[in-house]
Amino acid sequence: MNITFRQLQVFATVARQLSFTRAAAELFLTQPAVSMQVKQLETKLGLPLLEQLGKRIFLTEAGNEVSNYARAITQQLDEMDAVLNRMKGVGGGKLKISVATTANYFIPSLLGTFLQRYADITVSLDVTNRESLLRQLNENAVDLVVMGQPPPEMDLDAGLFMDNPLVIVAPPDHPLAKQKRIPLKRLQNEIFLVREPGSGTRVAMERFFSERQIRIMTGMEVGSNEAIKQSVQAGLGLGLLSQVTLEQELSLKRLIVLDVAEFPILRHWYVVHRKGKRLPLSAQAFKKFLLAEGNNTIGRSSRNKRKEPTN
Ligand code: PGA
Repeated sequence: MNITFRQLQVFATVARQLSFTRAAAELFLTQPAVSMQVKQLETKLGLPLLEQLGKRIFLTEAGNEVSNYARAITQQLDEMDAVLNRMKGVGGGKLKISVATTANYFIPSLLGTFLQRYADITVSLDVTNRESLLRQLNENAVDLVVMGQPPPEMDLDAGLFMDNPLVIVAPPDHPLAKQKRIPLKRLQNEIFLVREPGSGTRVAMERFFSERQIRIMTGMEVGSNEAIKQSVQAGLGLGLLSQVTLEQELSLKRLIVLDVAEFPILRHWYVVHRKGKRLPLSAQAFKKFLLAEGNNTIGRSSRNKRKEPTN
């Protein structure tokens, strides 16, 4: 039987969540990627595992069995991992990481999974903006950093591990809400709320518009993604934000993503440390974990073309 552990893992998540959308969010995959893994598993096993009645998903009898086995296999593998980690001496270490404000929307959940494998590691997590991350790297005050692409002039080791699309959001009743392929020039009549100077999102936004010679009007300067979302909902302007920050507002239809030409801006997440730094075992393990987990979420475009304009 030629099935993969990944297929079992994806199916087990769908079986637990009983929703492709929620499973996709938990696994940092797209919904079609999740459906495809489940389809492939069903084909290889020769039986349907799920059935859809109306909007709801149910497990078939075979689905129930496979879900039980998948859980047991995952547990065994986690146990094996924990035993081997103790042998390697990774346990008991301290992991000092700093992440970009925007990465705070997915790093805690990844840390949760990581710590199930390395329960004895103590984590110290700092959440701050891009500028302050670069300062911490410069001062060698941190083991690992998670951020947008670091500047090439700094001597850093940076591994791309996840896509980070940036989109433009508006309140649902905005005049542009229903318009398709809004030309960039049309945005010149709109006010944008912007993140604080030093934010990677802001740098990416300014670079994008200036490269295209689009002059946008900037309104309030707002120091967090959360405050930008609230202000956009209150009708104070448009926001340009990482898609990862928007899960709740989009599903509750408090905000919508505008269909703007040339969007989303394709940005990526990197795990970064100073070149030549002797990473503690705990940091080596977390870096390896991010690169492996994130690889499952990188779209083909990023795999083929890992270079993006630096900032
Ligand atoms: P920020 O960083 O949270 O500082 O905007 C995000 C990024 O670099 O893309």
